[in-house]
Amino acid sequence: MRVRRADWAFVLAVVAVVVMVSLLPSPRDRNPPIPGSPEHRAVSSEKMCSTCHAVGQSRPLTERHPKRQDCFRCHKPNAGG
Ligand code: HEC
Ligand code: HEC
Repeated sequence: MRVRRADWAFVLAVVAVVVMVSLLPSPRDRNPPIPGSPEHRAVSSEKMCSTCHAVGQSRPLTERHPKRQDCFRCHKPNAGG
């Protein structure tokens, strides 16, 4: 059976969409893990993150960082050192 050109265009469009969706930041997937440094091991609550990772503190988040407070949803604690 011959495949028409329009069918190929459709298949390519579907593949492109799937690739783009898979590149979106997914929770705990490609996001940087929380470093295993002493200052992070001391942190037990998401509420404490902002003492360093808020505007005006020592390690402010970038402009394009998601404005959300559920840090652990996207950042896995790094068990190792
Ligand atoms: C005492 C200050 C402090 C607190 C509290 C703190 N951080 Fe950090 N964080 C830092 C510093 C300094 C760095 C950069 C140095 C490093 O990589 O260890 C960092 C780096 C990070 C990074 C890695 C950034 C990268 O580019 O890889 C993530 C993710 C992160 N912190 C998440 C968190 C989360 C989530 C919390 C709350 C559970 C938290 N931090 C609490 C000081 C802090
Ligand atoms: C919706 C998912 C998500 C949530 C929730 C989230 N982050 Fe992130 N975070 C990311 C992604 C994705 C990156 C990588 C950003 C980049 O590459 O520019 C990142 C990067 C970081 C970095 C590295 C520096 C930077 O700004 O790029 C730090 C530090 C950080 N996050 C801390 C936190 C803290 C603290 C919280 C809670 C207040 C938090 N994150 C909540 C997804 C998230």
